[in-house]
Amino acid sequence: MIEKGVDVAPAEGKLGILLVGLGAVSTTLVAGVEAIKRGISQPVGSLTQMGTIRLGKRTDNRSPKIKDFVPIASLDDIVFGAWDIFHDNAFEAAMNAGVLDKDLLNQVSEPLASLKPMPAVFEQNYVKRLHGDNVKTGSKMQLAEQLIEDIARFKSENDCSRLVMVWAASTEIYLEESEVHETLEAFERGLYDSDPHIAPSMIYAYAAIMSGVPFANGAPNLAVDIPALTKLAETKRVPICGKDFKTGQTLMKTILAPGLKSRMLGLDGWYSTNILGNRDGEVLDDPENFKTKEESKLSVLEHIFQPEVYPELYKDFSHVVRINYYPPRGDNKEGWDAIDIFGWLGYKMQIKIDFMCRDSILAAPLALDLALFMDLAQRAGMRGVQEWLSFYFKAPQTAPGLYPEHDLFIQLMKLKNTLRHMRGEELITHLGLEYYD
Ligand SMILES: NC(=O)c1ccc[n+]([C@@H]2O[C@H](COP(=O)([O-])OP(=O)(O)OC[C@H]3O[C@@H](n4cnc5c(N)ncnc54)[C@H](O)[C@@H]3O)[C@@H](O)[C@H]2O)c1
Repeated sequence: MIEKGVDVAPAEGKLGILLVGLGAVSTTLVAGVEAIKRGISQPVGSLTQMGTIRLGKRTDNRSPKIKDFVPIASLDDIVFGAWDIFHDNAFEAAMNAGVLDKDLLNQVSEPLASLKPMPAVFEQNYVKRLHGDNVKTGSKMQLAEQLIEDIARFKSENDCSRLVMVWAASTEIYLEESEVHETLEAFERGLYDSDPHIAPSMIYAYAAIMSGVPFANGAPNLAVDIPALTKLAETKRVPICGKDFKTGQTLMKTILAPGLKSRMLGLDGWYSTNILGNRDGEVLDDPENFKTKEESKLSVLEHIFQPEVYPELYKDFSHVVRINYYPPRGDNKEGWDAIDIFGWLGYKMQIKIDFMCRDSILAAPLALDLALFMDLAQRAGMRGVQEWLSFYFKAPQTAPGLYPEHDLFIQLMKLKNTLRHMRGEELITHLGLEYYD
């Protein structure tokens, strides 16, 4: 049955992507987009740029590129803005991050050097390892108002028709939801009183939503994942999503674990360790910040293996995650996994993974896709939590009471079916009986 589809406003005019944090991920994103625009590189890793989508029957041979199927903003129409606690422009920050070759950076030095970060909303307690002075001052409500002014100024100075905001700043310390996060009234009172339980990421998220700007959270801190802000996003009709880009080790987990489970192989334990030497690794070396990351990384296997449904296979498996700050490796993280599984008659086997990855090379295309899909979602009238973008996250935000879907392949199917639904195309269930009638 063909559906009607959804009215999606065209991607006219410029799209401003506001990056919170101008570190390794953000500068790799900006430099990459500039390099791709100049034909220096290909957008490898980006579903919006390289992905296709099958439409209709397998015999129809219709598989357009996603960007030709739904009206996604063109890379040529993107303008970047950023906030950071350091004054370095994007060229200097990219050089410091050491992810990309100097040769490549020199070829895109002009747009990078002209991207200067706006003063940040920062609270030392939330990221103790970093000390920068490009920061705003005032009560938390005044800080939110200053961000709202930044957003409006950026939009008019850069002649943007739309904006999106992506949190790519340091992971904040672990915080549990409390009373001040429950309702908008309590939250706004908390902003006036500078309540210590309101983290900087929440102030950015509040400012974005109040400005009608979609907000995507690339880190594991709560940010927009509190009832006060999810409800505000609903009322203001703004799309939001999070949390924590699914890039290296967790990506491998959500590829492998569904496969093991689909074959009914049991699991005794999964030990994961990482060595990482960039600034993110330095921040995560603080136990309070690591705790936020740990929670996000740990949630994945429990949900995929469903020990409550398959106690004989997955009850009480041991899952340990470590991150060790090891400066010589820089952004080139090494993620090791030792996986203890068992098969027929309980015979034990082991799997080892050694993923010598590059953190920001994996994260940058996700940040791009999220920005472009969030802009699309807003033009399609979608609001509140965008669960169809779970594909990109370690700890996907969902509606209250709903467990998150972590299986990468189900996530991709959901994403593509959402796009089919948007355009009134038949959803693909993979039933396929029609080929045998
Ligand atoms: N593969 C990945 O790289 C990956 C995967 C998942 C999540 N993440 C998360 O993405 C975030 C960015 O990673 P990164 O490698 O670019 O880190 P980074 O340390 O290189 O960059 C973060 C930047 O944020 C800035 N910052 C900190 N607090 C800020 C604030 N309140 N306002 C504005 N700027 C602030 C810092 O000064 C720094 O420049 C981290 O939270 C990280 O955990 C990264």
